[in-house]
Amino acid sequence: MFYSDETVEEVRTKNDIVDVVSEHVKLQKRGGRHWGLCPFHNEKSPSFSVNGDLQVYHCFGCGAGGNVYTFVMNYENFSFPEAVKMLADRAGVQLPEPEESEEGRKRESRRARLLAVNKEAAKFFYYQLRTAQGERGYQYLKKRELTDETMQKFGLGFAGKNGAVLVQYLRGKGFEDEVIQEAGLASHSEKYGMTSQFWNRVMYPIQDINNRVIGFGGRVMGEGEPKYLNSPETPVFDKRRNLYGLNYARRARSSNIILCEGYMDVIAMHQAGFGQAVASLGTAFTAEQAALLRRYTDQVLLAYDSDGAGVKAALRGIGILREAGLTGKVINMQPYKDPDEFMKALGREAFQERILQAENSFFFEIRILEGQFRLSDPEEKTRFHREIARKLCSFSEEVERDNYLQAVAEKYFIGVENLRKLVRGYAAQTGLVKPVERPKSGVRPKTSPEDKAKRSQRLLLTWIADRPGLYDRIKKYISAMDFTEGVCQRVAERMFRELEEGKLNPAGIISMFEEESEQREAAALFSADLPGLETEPEKEKAFRDILLSVKKNSYEYHVARMGTDVSALSRAIEGKKALEELGRAHISLD
Ligand code: GTP
Ligand code: MN
Repeated sequence: MFYSDETVEEVRTKNDIVDVVSEHVKLQKRGGRHWGLCPFHNEKSPSFSVNGDLQVYHCFGCGAGGNVYTFVMNYENFSFPEAVKMLADRAGVQLPEPEESEEGRKRESRRARLLAVNKEAAKFFYYQLRTAQGERGYQYLKKRELTDETMQKFGLGFAGKNGAVLVQYLRGKGFEDEVIQEAGLASHSEKYGMTSQFWNRVMYPIQDINNRVIGFGGRVMGEGEPKYLNSPETPVFDKRRNLYGLNYARRARSSNIILCEGYMDVIAMHQAGFGQAVASLGTAFTAEQAALLRRYTDQVLLAYDSDGAGVKAALRGIGILREAGLTGKVINMQPYKDPDEFMKALGREAFQERILQAENSFFFEIRILEGQFRLSDPEEKTRFHREIARKLCSFSEEVERDNYLQAVAEKYFIGVENLRKLVRGYAAQTGLVKPVERPKSGVRPKTSPEDKAKRSQRLLLTWIADRPGLYDRIKKYISAMDFTEGVCQRVAERMFRELEEGKLNPAGIISMFEEESEQREAAALFSADLPGLETEPEKEKAFRDILLSVKKNSYEYHVARMGTDVSALSRAIEGKKALEELGRAHISLD
């Protein structure tokens, strides 16, 4: 680990999780916890909970969870050392110098190494663009009317024809071939050794919201295939969860965000003064990106290409934005192809005008729909109206639905009452106005014995976290060895030790896991709801059943291993005895 356990704990305790989360998510207190809309998935009603007593968070919708470190790591896309540093700064804790030795660098996480190699490569490309070999690239960008200032702001660069130079440069900076390959900067072959991935292209470094280079897009100068070559997905380059230009757009202080298709569009928009422009990363717009945008705005303006593919992509995007609870509007780029061309031809003011005229996404959808029917034919016209009714059903809120209904009726000369009838008919026919969102756990497949064991072990830990006093009453029957399931066992070990010392610290327990999935699992243990049982005897019975189930599983587990594991025999004997005692014992909950 980069910093000592004491430092990590000190920094953690000085950053209250409720305060830190509140800086990004609007929270409301309810029933001893704070609730808000989860920043890690799209939702309209809050299932993200923060527990100030335990200093953990957990989302009942998507399962995200952890302590203040995991929150910052996920929210800001930070590695662990970066999260420590950020939170130390926030709380005014002076950190000891991180280890800079060769040893220390090796131990640095893989993510940090990938970020470092990307940063160094970006510097290299940037420098190349400004040398004689990069002249071609520089002229290309100039021809596309980019100023030096813009090129600098976006860190644009150039990958020359001699790919070996980059590899040599990175090796010289201490990067192993393995890291260079993993970042997608070069590939290795028997015949040619290490060869650079990007070759004779202008380079667009792709930055995350914290300005760190996570990948590259490389464009051919002129015609050629592929037009863009993008870095592959890596542990730091998640194309679904990042947006080009968002590092600037998030600080643009604009009431909206403009979503474009291409890197060049974003750059041209920023140059023209629209600092709120972003684009997805060479892949279709995703729900994760919508969730990311929702942190900064509630209105997204689509500035997609005006061709058929652009319209199709816009229709898809609208649906995703709506699901995320964002208002979508569509900017008309006609007669130009994309924002880049529009800006060159008509300039800033004309675009500002188009922003004001941006079309409500619902009307955009209806207008596109209209084009698919011959309205002179009564039958097709009826089908068009039915389609409108069907679309109106996607508004779950009645007032909103009716407002749209009236507006669309007026626009397309449909009788309001007739349209209402159609909507009602459609709703009745399908049995619902909008599909009701159901928790995923609705129907569970039959649980296997392993699942059952895991579930009891988890529940037992949740009970103890909820009522630490129980530990003293059950410790003669149970120990951490009874937890056969990985994360549960490690949590139990630490938790029981802390309870012995009289200082249970759930958030600290989460820190001991390095894998994110394990942190989630541990956080879920401390945040899960206990089954809603009414009476004390019911609760007592439930608790006893869980305890027995954990013990029984442990006994069976050790019996099965008696042949190969010497300690298993004594555990099995001990387990049998404890089970018998437990069968007679009464365990009170208070
Ligand atoms: P210019 O032609 O330079 O103006 O590009 P653009 O930024 O306008 O891009 P375009 O609208 O052609 O494409 C939109 C986005 O799709 C680009 O920014 C890339 O991210 C991606 N893209 C385009 N062409 C390719 C390709 O050949 N391969 C891959 N992987 N992605 C591409
Ligand atoms: Mn373009």
